[in-house]
Amino acid sequence: MTVMRKPVVAGNWKMYKCGDEAAMLAEAVARGASPLSPSVDTVICPPFPALVRVAGVLRSGSVALGAQNMHWENEGAYTGEVAPPMLVDAGCRYVILGHSERRTCFHETDQIVNRKTHAAMAAGLVPIVCVGETLEERETGKTRKVIETQVAGSLKGIGTDLSGIIVAYEPVWAIGTGLTATPEQAQEVHAFIRICLEKIDNRAAAQKTRILYGGSVKPANAGDLFRQPDIDGGLIGGAALDAETFLAVVKAAVV
Ligand code: 13P
Repeated sequence: MTVMRKPVVAGNWKMYKCGDEAAMLAEAVARGASPLSPSVDTVICPPFPALVRVAGVLRSGSVALGAQNMHWENEGAYTGEVAPPMLVDAGCRYVILGHSERRTCFHETDQIVNRKTHAAMAAGLVPIVCVGETLEERETGKTRKVIETQVAGSLKGIGTDLSGIIVAYEPVWAIGTGLTATPEQAQEVHAFIRICLEKIDNRAAAQKTRILYGGSVKPANAGDLFRQPDIDGGLIGGAALDAETFLAVVKAAVV
C-alpha cells in the first residue's frame, strides 16, 4: 500500500534577515504560499530575534514558523541559550535540530541532538532532525554507516512517536556549494533512511515519516528531487532568502 505523505518545504534562513527585511520576506512568502497550503506544508525558520515579529506576519496560518536550534532544558542558567517553551511562546511549531553547521561549528553530537529531539517533542514542537555525510565520508564509502549512526543516535528512544518528527538528509558537501546530490543519489539515501527508521520503530511509522532533502536546492532542480518516491520535500538555505525563488521551490513540491 502506498502511503501519502504531505510534502514539506522549510526555509532555513540561517544567520540572515532581521527586522523589516525579515517581516517583508515572511509576508511575501505567506501571500504566495496561501493557495498552495492544501497540498504542501510551508515552514520558515528565521533567526531567533526575528521570530516574534515574523509570527505576527504569519497569523493567517498558511505558513508555519520554525526555529533553527534550541536547548534541551525548559529553563536554567544557560547563558545565550533558548528553551523549547520559549519557542512555543514565540509562535514556533517546528525546530531544526542537528544541522551540520551546528554539528561542525558548535560540536553537537548525536547524543545532544537526541536530547533536543526528546525535548522538542515534549514541548509539542515538530523536530526537523538533520543528518548527512561529508565529502570524505562519501568518497571513502562510509555514507550508509554515517547516516545509520546519526539516525539511530539522534532518534534513540523516540519509539512510537516517530511519525511526529521530520528527518532532513543534507549531504554536507552539497550545502551552500552549488553541488546538489543527483535525484538518484538523494533517493538512494532517503530509501536507506526509511529502512533505518523501520528499525527504530516499525514499517508503518517509517512509511509515514517525512524525509526532506537539503543542499543547494533551487527552482531548477527541485522538481526532479521532489519527484523521487522517498523525498518528501526540502530544507532550503540560500534559495529561501528570496520570496520568488523560495515560492518556486514550494510549488515544485505540489504533486
Ligand atoms: P543551501 O540550500 O544554501 O545549500 O543550504 C542547505 C541547508 O543547509 C538548509 O538547512
